[in-house]
Order: sequence, then structure tokens, then C-alpha cells
Amino acid sequence: MKPAVYTRTMQLFHWSGALLILGLWLLGVVMHEMADTPLKTQLYRVHVGIGLLTLILTVARIVWLFVGKRPEDLAMPAWRRLAFVWNHRLLYLIVALLLVSGVGMLVLSGIGISPANVIPAAIQDVPPRTVHGIASKLFLALFVMHFVGVVHYQFTEGETFARMGVALKRR
Ligand code: HEM
Ligand code: HEM
Repeated sequence: MKPAVYTRTMQLFHWSGALLILGLWLLGVVMHEMADTPLKTQLYRVHVGIGLLTLILTVARIVWLFVGKRPEDLAMPAWRRLAFVWNHRLLYLIVALLLVSGVGMLVLSGIGISPANVIPAAIQDVPPRTVHGIASKLFLALFVMHFVGVVHYQFTEGETFARMGVALKRR
């Protein structure tokens, strides 16, 4: 029988991933808009360092997705299930694309994957850079859909946050 909630491991992957990925997005937007100062270089290095950590955690998360138990399906109409399932699949895909294109732009620019070697001016106009920029915008659209979807479900249909380890209603 499937469990009623996500496993503790999946919950930890979800919330640590959410924090890191949203942080990376914010940092990415801010650092990209900044004037060329030493702070910009520091932020690029932090972005790459957190990005590499997120890459490792995401690989482990995807392995766990297939190895661990998944909870039973939430009750919802077929159209909504389709949106729900594809929103999750596309979030995984876009996050994977961001991680791979991030590493790709460093490798193809000849910087290598050490955060300490990153200098904004050394990043060249290699194809993964364009992919990274477009994917970061697609990510935002998918994230907004995810956020609105889960919050709407929680307050109109039934418990979903509790499945991810956050009890909003008193039992
Ligand atoms: C899910 C994870 C990630 C998110 C959400 C993210 C987000 C972003 C965003 C929003 C930008 C600004 C893009 C623009 O405005 O054109 C950016 C730039 C950048 N990201 Fe990421 N990123 C992620 C992972 C990574 C990783 C893993 C690396 C490298 C290991 C990386 C390296 C870079 C670099 C070098 C830039 C600067 C590109 C430029 O100057 O045009 N990112 N990122
Ligand atoms: C970078 C940000 C995020 C990503 C990539 C993401 C991705 C996902 C994915 C793929 C799932 C399906 C379970 C899994 O395979 O892990 C999920 C479930 C869930 N997410 Fe997020 N999430 C993010 C942020 C958030 C935030 C900020 C919230 C809170 C508003 C949230 C609330 C939930 C809830 C409640 C579920 C459980 C849905 C269910 O009951 O099946 N997520 N998320």
C-alpha cells in the first residue's frame, strides 16, 4: 500500500531544494543586473558554489524519487491531475537544465568548475548561457504555477502541505 505522505527524506529534499533553488534564482537576477564591482564577482562565486551543492542534492533526489516510496494520489479531476503531474515533471526538467547549463557555461568558457575561479568577465557567450537565461524565466513561470496550485488545493480541496511535512490544520 502507498503511504499517505511523502517520505521524510523526500520532504527534506523538497524543502532544502526549494530554499536553494529560489535563492539561486534571486541571486542570479541580482548579480546579473549589478555593475562590475568586487561584490558582483563574490556573488557569482556564491551562485556557482550553491549551484554545485544543489546539483549534488538534485541528483540524489532524483535517484530517491525512483528508489523510495511515493504517496497515494491526491483526489482531483483528470484535467487538474494532468496539470499537477506535468508541473512536477517540468520543474524537475527545468531545474536539471539550469544545473547542467550552469556547469556547461563554466566548462565551455574555460573557467572550470571551481567557484573560486569564477570572474563575471570570463563567462563567454557560449550556448549554455542563453539556455540558462531562458530556463530561469521558464522556471519562474512553472514555480508560480506550482505555488498557486498547491496553495489553492490546500485551501479549497484538502490537505497537501501535510503530505510535505507542514501541518497547517490542527488535527
Ligand atoms: C536551479 C539552479 C539555478 C538557478 C535557478 C539559476 C538562476 C540563474 C539566473 C536567474 C541567472 C541570471 C540569468 C540572466 O539574467 O540572464 C543566472 C546566471 C548564472 N548562473 Fe545560474 N542558476 C542555477 C544554477 C547554476 C549553476 C549550477 C551554475 C554553475 C555551476 C550557475 C552559474 C551561473 C552563471 C555563471 C551565471 C551568469 C551568467 C551571465 O553572466 O550571463 N547557475 N543563474
Ligand atoms: C524551487 C522551488 C520548488 C520546486 C522545484 C518544487 C518542486 C516540487 C515537486 C517536484 C513536487 C512533487 C514531489 C517531488 O517529487 O518532490 C512538489 C510537491 C509539493 N510542493 Fe513544491 N517545489 C518548490 C517549492 C515549493 C514551495 C515554495 C512550496 C510552498 C508553497 C511548495 C509546496 C509543495 C507541496 C505542498 C507539495 C506536495 C504536493 C502533494 O501533495 O503531492 N513547493 N514540489
